[in-house]
Amino acid sequence: MIPHINDSKDELVDSEVFYSYEKLNNIKWYDRILLNRPLKVTIVFLLIGVAAPVLLYHFYFFTALNLPPSDGFSIGSCLIPRETRLACGVGQMPQDQCHPHCCYDRNLQMCFHRIPSRFSYIIDQQWSEDVVLHPRIATVPFSNQNSLSQLRLSIDEQSATHLVLTFYNSQNNSISGKRIGSKNYSYEIGIPEINIAVNASQGTIFDTARGPLIASDNIWEIAFKLTNESMYGLGELPLKKNTTKVIYSHSGGLSSVPLIFARINTSFHGLMIDVNEPTEILIHPGDQIVVRSITNFGLKFHLFVGPEPKGIMEDVMKIIGRNKQLKYWMLGIHVCSEVPDIDLDNFISNATRNQMPFDSHCGHGPIVFNSNQCKTSNVSNIGEVNSGANIVREAGKKFVPYVSPYIRYIKAENDTLEEEVNKTERVIYGPTLHTVNTESCEILPTYEDVMYRLPNTMEIYKGDINGTEVVYPDYKGVASEFLNDLWAYDHYDGVVLENNWPLDYSEKHLNETALYLPYFSENLETAFANTPQWNLTLLNDSNLYLFNHNTYGDNFAQAFAKKDNTTPIWSTSLWMNGGLAINRQNIDASWTNLHRELVSAALGGISGHWLWSSPICGDTENFNQTTQTNLCIKWYLAATYFPMIKIHSKTHMRYPTAFNGTQRSIVLSALNRRLGLLPYFYTTLQEGPLLRPMFYQFPLSESLYDINTQFSVGDILLIVPNLTPSQSHAHLWLPGGTWYELWSGLRMEGNEGDPVTMTTAEADFLTFIKGGSILVYQKEIEQTAENTQFFSPFSLVIALECTRSNEEQSTPQCHATGKQFIKTNMSLIFSANDTNLVITADGNDFDPICDIATGYWAYDIRDINIYGLDEELNNYDNHREVSTFVDLCHLEIDPEIVVNLLS
Ligand SMILES: *[C@@H]1O[C@H](CO)[C@@H](O)[C@H](O)[C@H]1NC(C)=O
Ligand SMILES: *[C@@H]1O[C@H](CO)[C@@H](O)[C@H](O)[C@H]1NC(C)=O
Ligand SMILES: *[C@@H]1O[C@H](CO)[C@@H](O)[C@H](O)[C@H]1NC(C)=O
Ligand SMILES: *[C@@H]1O[C@H](CO)[C@@H](O)[C@H](O)[C@H]1NC(C)=O
Ligand SMILES: *[C@@H]1O[C@H](CO)[C@@H](O)[C@H](O)[C@H]1NC(C)=O
Ligand SMILES: *[C@@H]1O[C@H](CO)[C@@H](O)[C@H](O)[C@H]1NC(C)=O
Ligand SMILES: *[C@@H]1O[C@H](CO)[C@@H](O)[C@H](O)[C@H]1NC(C)=O
Ligand SMILES: *[C@@H]1O[C@H](CO)[C@@H](O)[C@H](O)[C@H]1NC(C)=O
Repeated sequence: MIPHINDSKDELVDSEVFYSYEKLNNIKWYDRILLNRPLKVTIVFLLIGVAAPVLLYHFYFFTALNLPPSDGFSIGSCLIPRETRLACGVGQMPQDQCHPHCCYDRNLQMCFHRIPSRFSYIIDQQWSEDVVLHPRIATVPFSNQNSLSQLRLSIDEQSATHLVLTFYNSQNNSISGKRIGSKNYSYEIGIPEINIAVNASQGTIFDTARGPLIASDNIWEIAFKLTNESMYGLGELPLKKNTTKVIYSHSGGLSSVPLIFARINTSFHGLMIDVNEPTEILIHPGDQIVVRSITNFGLKFHLFVGPEPKGIMEDVMKIIGRNKQLKYWMLGIHVCSEVPDIDLDNFISNATRNQMPFDSHCGHGPIVFNSNQCKTSNVSNIGEVNSGANIVREAGKKFVPYVSPYIRYIKAENDTLEEEVNKTERVIYGPTLHTVNTESCEILPTYEDVMYRLPNTMEIYKGDINGTEVVYPDYKGVASEFLNDLWAYDHYDGVVLENNWPLDYSEKHLNETALYLPYFSENLETAFANTPQWNLTLLNDSNLYLFNHNTYGDNFAQAFAKKDNTTPIWSTSLWMNGGLAINRQNIDASWTNLHRELVSAALGGISGHWLWSSPICGDTENFNQTTQTNLCIKWYLAATYFPMIKIHSKTHMRYPTAFNGTQRSIVLSALNRRLGLLPYFYTTLQEGPLLRPMFYQFPLSESLYDINTQFSVGDILLIVPNLTPSQSHAHLWLPGGTWYELWSGLRMEGNEGDPVTMTTAEADFLTFIKGGSILVYQKEIEQTAENTQFFSPFSLVIALECTRSNEEQSTPQCHATGKQFIKTNMSLIFSANDTNLVITADGNDFDPICDIATGYWAYDIRDINIYGLDEELNNYDNHREVSTFVDLCHLEIDPEIVVNLLS
């Protein structure tokens, strides 16, 4: 490794001279002296006689001894261990392309930043919101572009635990952050080379550590450190080093907000990257995080102090909002089938025959709007969609169609020529007739102004979806008539917005993109490949498409929400939006993906996306029912505990009726079990995420932090999924407290952090319940979630936590509590010891339980399992089972119901 400056004197001289010259220009008295003729002569002599030798000397040693550039700021060292080197520019490059202010390692052909990096901004006075930062080096290591000459840093103290850092181009923006009195953090801005360090009680939670800050046209870069310990987020648990994530919505993109949880000892803090332009995030092997963005505005980061993961989630939800649409049936089973040769009627009758429960169906197939669409025309797919909706409703299910944002482009046909004449005639006849013209409600040409266009010709851009030409409207702020004309179909009960990044398979010559953008990497190329061409534009907006891309899907979803804000929406590619449910899609069936779906849902949940729908056995064409049966069965078993699920078959069937014999019954019982547990899921989702990583649920249990093979389900359940083919054993790492196997009551022996090995079979899915809790569920399953909720009596599992005092023969003190959410301001409260169960109500609206006409909840409890009693009280191997009949409506009169557990 050698300092790179040695080998490129010429370039160095150029840029140094250029920079000093620029600097001189700014200093007025210099100008005057230099323009003074007699002085000039003197200066020439001085230069030849004194300055030249000095300069030569200086220059010689500058290069050889690594003296600082003439600006007097830090020199920076190139002696950096390999794993902490940050790439300067793209990193891997021939020596002559490496920027002269970077270091170069000839062995690895790696161009990297000094420490401190020379690419920094200079702040020549104490920081405040309106102090302007100037670049130290005039050019950036990306295509040698010029550095932006004026930046500002805004620090917004949002709350005692939430801080916003914004670096932005101050030429045409101005931001002013707020100051608050008491806060749990402090920050230091280092001068003159800017450095930002944020401290909280657990230590330094954000530090730019004298890394690079680069800003230029279409490329910004910053590096910082959050911790030396583990991080979690961006779909990874824990976040592996040396990974790159891209923020540019695409088929394999992130579904949740770009949030990183970082840990210092037992405290957690969070960072959310709030940049809606195409952005690359590198988790560097040396723990730095490098954020590179194709932006012209700047970079914005939310920093959350924690110290509990839950606090971070709550702060995030203050920004992205929370879902208010949760309806009970949304937690049920959602089916969509695009399998050729199997029609809807057949599917439904087969499902009914096989007692397959499900709540909604997408009808005859996903909807793609047509450009000649119109409520009053019959050329479109309207009749087809409406007939599908009717079949679904007649079967007692909800109609939840799948909708894509693009519009199938249909060329005007030749025979419309005749109508054309008619149209013109009408126009001639006057406005009244023109308005009744059926043509006027077509999407094209009526709304052609909102369509994305090619950059030069301004022709409407046509993407490709498997041979179909499609056009892309800009949904941001479209008039409500637009959505009304697009949605020419009847009522829907919910909608899944898919392919919403948006999808476009067309060929794009992305190899040419690097000619236009100073930075373009393979990761970005992958993300750009199946999305609309990056340089599209709109008629009335000169911004290129790539800057609007990340919000495209969200704009589509918002347009739907605006049209009807009471109907549930699931959507892919939301943007900083916690108000709608997440739809995961394009998941291939594989063991890795089953694990990834669990991790994503868990991380998504604790990032504020509590309603998160994941496809069982994936949802792509790549599924082989013969070879992947075991995987699919395990996936169904895991689906019991996902916050929301869908069964989406493309080409190959993956719904339960496609399996035979034993397999079908395992799959069906997994779905039934899910419906039975919905009372608990529904209660949990009122206050928090369902599926949770260990570090979130047990933030003080150090031995559990990095475990990603077991998950909490709400506060009281723990699952250990099988994640490999033909797995016969599973390891459970015990959290503190008492744990029982959920259905048998077998008590787990061991201390916190101990691994417990359990055998597991094909039909098993290890689930545990925490001592001290009461689970409310339903045993008998009806054909939908709502019917089960209403018709099936409750059952309880009482898992006791008993404490024995040290004296022998003292009786243990046992307790357990639980809650069932009924509706806002109405819950049932359960509390038990080793003899009695006491039920009370928190609230007094009993109609949902007791009103025959309007009720929607079961009103009775039929059986109770008790875990943790003395062995002689058990009437089964590991538990006591009590059959009973409790009419919950007695609470309308009595303040409490007491059930004797030992009678
Ligand atoms: C990081 O990943 C790249 C490839 O993705 C690999 O070539 C490189 O060796 C890795 N570096 C470290 C330090 O693991
Ligand atoms: C209908 O159910 C039978 C089993 O009852 C199954 O063999 C068949 O494949 C199913 N047909 C469809 C279209 O799902
Ligand atoms: C439309 O016109 C073109 C040429 O005028 C002809 O080739 C094409 O077959 C016509 N299409 C229809 C549907 O009539
Ligand atoms: C004009 O349209 C009407 C129906 O709207 C149709 O009956 C008539 O034949 C059309 N006239 C011509 C010239 O095509
Ligand atoms: C559509 O095209 C893409 C890319 O060409 C391909 O990966 C995908 O399988 C195709 N889908 C269908 C349904 O043909
Ligand atoms: C990009 O690739 C296409 C074909 O793959 C080729 O024709 C074109 O010349 C390439 N452009 C550049 C700038 O390399
Ligand atoms: C737009 O992007 C495409 C694909 O990268 C490229 O071939 C084309 O030259 C670009 N056009 C303009 C005007 O930038
Ligand atoms: C599934 O895999 C089996 C065995 O590899 C193969 O024979 C069969 O053709 C595959 N089916 C599909 C639909 O790819």
